[in-house]
Amino acid sequence: MKSKNIILKALLGIVLILVIGLLLRVFFLTPDDSVKRVSLPETEYDPAVWGKHYPLEYQSYLKNKEMAPSPTGFGGSVKEQKSVKEPEILTNFKGMAFSKDYSEDRGHPYALEDLKETRRIGPTTPGACMTCKTAQLRDIYKEKGWGYAKIPLTELLPLLKHPIVCASCHDPQTMQLRVLNPAFIEALARRGIDVQKASRKEMRSYVCGQCHAEYYFEPEGKRVVFPWDKGLKPQDMYAYYQDRPAGFDMDWQHPDSQARMLKAQHPDFELSSSGVHAQSGVACADCHMPYLRDNGRKYSSHWVTSPMKHIQASCRTCHTQSEAWLRDRVKTTQNHVFQLQHTAGQTIARAHEAIGRAGKAPKASPDDLARARELVRRAQWYWDFIAAENSMGFHNPDQTLNTLGQSIDLAHQAIAAADRASGATR
Ligand code: HEC
Ligand code: HEC
Ligand code: HEC
Ligand code: HEC
Repeated sequence: MKSKNIILKALLGIVLILVIGLLLRVFFLTPDDSVKRVSLPETEYDPAVWGKHYPLEYQSYLKNKEMAPSPTGFGGSVKEQKSVKEPEILTNFKGMAFSKDYSEDRGHPYALEDLKETRRIGPTTPGACMTCKTAQLRDIYKEKGWGYAKIPLTELLPLLKHPIVCASCHDPQTMQLRVLNPAFIEALARRGIDVQKASRKEMRSYVCGQCHAEYYFEPEGKRVVFPWDKGLKPQDMYAYYQDRPAGFDMDWQHPDSQARMLKAQHPDFELSSSGVHAQSGVACADCHMPYLRDNGRKYSSHWVTSPMKHIQASCRTCHTQSEAWLRDRVKTTQNHVFQLQHTAGQTIARAHEAIGRAGKAPKASPDDLARARELVRRAQWYWDFIAAENSMGFHNPDQTLNTLGQSIDLAHQAIAAADRASGATR
């Protein structure tokens, strides 16, 4: 009797283990394990060819061509000029290309088309500009090294056929995630991080961070550099730029205030890196490429857009709150940020005007003028860091509000210094 019992218990145990194993497989199966990998040629850039082997990923990738607004009213893929809502942009970027054309971003398949069409490019635009727009960067960098950065963009454009495609993030032969942008790899190396040794989780943010980050071109060779040596906060990067790295001193000189200005470029990776999500180990792909299911197969959505278009898949894997609560929470944060961003931008516009007037005053004090120009440069860097970032503060609300608060204070100090310079308050 006893031995029969033991056998029964053992059998039951085995069945239980099998059932648990099966459940684990169904619920926690990582998509990677279920896909049959194929090895594609190193220079296969056409997503349609990849799509034959990975139809679910490809179908969702094609949705990147859809242009729908976001339910928050801030993000979304509709190409519209930012200056409609924030006309101060026209004053603050006066004298440089972003006052001519500065539109909201849209899906990855449009990256090359939008580069070719933007009114910001001209005969002197360097080839460096294609770094984040095409997977063909790999071939061009392999052949020419950083030499490509100096070649006029108009010479390179005819060679470029493929925008941000599968090969931008995946090694065609192994399907592993990979990073192509040498500027990102070098910036991390200077911070003591070897991308080759990154964990899978880190790669789920690194593939995005290689493009969604602040950079500048070195004046001589136009090499792309990420200004991360002192840290990823706006204060750290400002300190870095104040050292005039490789002689880089400004992106342009403002025609009214004569201040030597910096232009910030989409620091999504930097801002989010100290936010609560990144600090809790949440990767870009967790929200922007959530898991979906199709006939029991779990795969990553390759529709890389505002997560607010699919809150259920993007947020409710971790959050138990309702969709409506999450949407309102994001919107409230963004409304607060927009209000301060707008105020900061408008105050900076007034500062440029005040400094411009002071510069024309007959007995303007050069010291006060220099001080006012330095203040508006810093104020605008803080404002632009947030305005150029793509989440309207969501990626890191408290750092965002702190940065905008400092920007507003600095802009007022700039106005006061300009008034002192012109004698208005002497
Ligand atoms: C916790 C979820 C979450 C994480 C993690 C996250 N994002 Fe976002 N992201 C959002 C939300 C929410 C928005 C705001 C979308 C809106 O306004 O519709 C957003 C907006 C954006 C946008 C603008 C989208 C648009 O529609 O214009 C970009 C680009 C972006 N994120 C890139 C990144 C990158 C790169 C990372 C990683 C460095 C990242 N995000 C990490 C949730 C996240
Ligand atoms: C912007 C970067 C990016 C692009 C472009 C991209 N992928 Fe991915 N892909 C990812 C990330 C991130 C994952 C998740 C990998 C992980 O967690 O290990 C992934 C996962 C996958 C997987 C593993 C299974 C899954 O669904 O998670 C396949 C297969 C895949 N991608 C195919 C493609 C194909 C085909 C294309 C082009 C049509 C493509 N990818 C374009 C970033 C990208
Ligand atoms: C090779 C560079 C590159 C890589 C890699 C890349 N992006 Fe982008 N991303 C861009 C560019 C450039 C645009 C703007 C395209 C346009 O407006 O023409 C963009 C646009 C976006 C948008 C806006 C889409 C919309 O619907 O408005 C989101 C969101 C986004 N990227 C998130 C990500 C995330 C998340 C990753 C990583 C999984 C990633 N990107 C990887 C360069 C890149
Ligand atoms: C992989 C898990 C994960 C995902 C996916 C995720 N979150 Fe979170 N979220 C967290 C964690 C962890 C925190 C930290 C606080 C906590 O433990 O609840 C947090 C905090 C928050 C907070 C409060 C802090 C703040 O920064 O305002 C909000 C709001 C929030 N998440 C919204 C969202 C939204 C919206 C999405 C989808 C776009 C999302 N989260 C996706 C894990 C996640």
